[in-house]
Amino acid sequence: MKILVTGGLGFIGSHTVVELQNEGFEVVIIDDCSNADVKVLEGIQAITGKLPLFEKIDLRDKPMVAAFFARHQDVEGVIHFAASKAVGESVEKPLLYYENNIGSLVYILQELSKKEKARFIFSSSCTVYGQADEMPITEDAPVKAAESPYGNTKQMGEEIIADTCKVTPGLHAIALRYFNPMGAHPSTEIGELPIGVPQNLVPFITQTGMGVREQLAVFGNDYPTPDGTCIRDYIHVVDLARAHVVALQRLLNAKNEQNYEVFNVGTGKGSSVLEVIQSFERVSGEKLNYKIVDRRAGDIVSAYANTKKANEVLGWKAQSTLDEAMKSAWDWEKKVRNN
Ligand code: WQD
Repeated sequence: MKILVTGGLGFIGSHTVVELQNEGFEVVIIDDCSNADVKVLEGIQAITGKLPLFEKIDLRDKPMVAAFFARHQDVEGVIHFAASKAVGESVEKPLLYYENNIGSLVYILQELSKKEKARFIFSSSCTVYGQADEMPITEDAPVKAAESPYGNTKQMGEEIIADTCKVTPGLHAIALRYFNPMGAHPSTEIGELPIGVPQNLVPFITQTGMGVREQLAVFGNDYPTPDGTCIRDYIHVVDLARAHVVALQRLLNAKNEQNYEVFNVGTGKGSSVLEVIQSFERVSGEKLNYKIVDRRAGDIVSAYANTKKANEVLGWKAQSTLDEAMKSAWDWEKKVRNN
């Protein structure tokens, strides 16, 4: 069975391609390579022994999207990762984010709506909750006003899919709300490759550990948390990838009564910034050079998932601990820097 993975050269996308191939799915990747290197294909093949089909397409090009689906009429499901995802950049360039993230989504849904049966998995984010009122966060927590155009494209994306599913009985869709992905495949053949200065905590930590960055700035330790630093739910990217496979299998078996569902994908455990630093120091045996600085605008205090729905309905549960995830991130960083 052929599955389209858009953004399949990216961090989460590439790890999901590996898990799909391991399950026996035939994968075709679409990626515009704006934020990923085509060499990732070699990494995927090194792990699974199978080179995925790949087409470099800009999903903002509606005729190109239609032509792809005309060439690949045997695509039975789509996992849609392709999107611009830098929160800060989205504030400066909102129209780039709406054109890319919403436009590509609409064009793909238009093609899937032509099919008698189609399955669709959407890469959403816990960012839709903003600062939730209660921890852990359940799927029925209110979606709050987005803090950025990036976050808004995830909220709008979910609404677009829900509205489309209401009038398209053959389309079965799931939105996965990711918490904080981290780590890398244990083979160190694929991993996170942030371009430029990492925005996210874990790659900044591992680059600091390798001396690529001088020092980690901890954005505030005056939050109302046990150690004063923000709390997040850090999930191993392979656990996250596997959640996509079980979600796809649910859609393929059409076990879901309603044809649109939402699931949180996290570990269910919150970790503070200082606890993540301590995890790095445990797995690397090195002290991390960091300093406490002012808060970062837009940061929420705490976000970690109630994973009951995914555990019970999808039969999925994150397997890796924070230290295991951090070790994979550190092994990957050392591999990248020593090559
Ligand atoms: C985590 C914590 C920072 C960097 C972002 C996106 C979100 C999602 C996941 C796509 C925070 C602190 C960070 C640093 C620090 N992406 N930090 N120093 O902000 O929770 O979520 O990535 O869907 O949409 O917003 O992740 O890794 O940036 O920050 O102290 O150099 O680490 O303040 O408390 P975040 P993050």
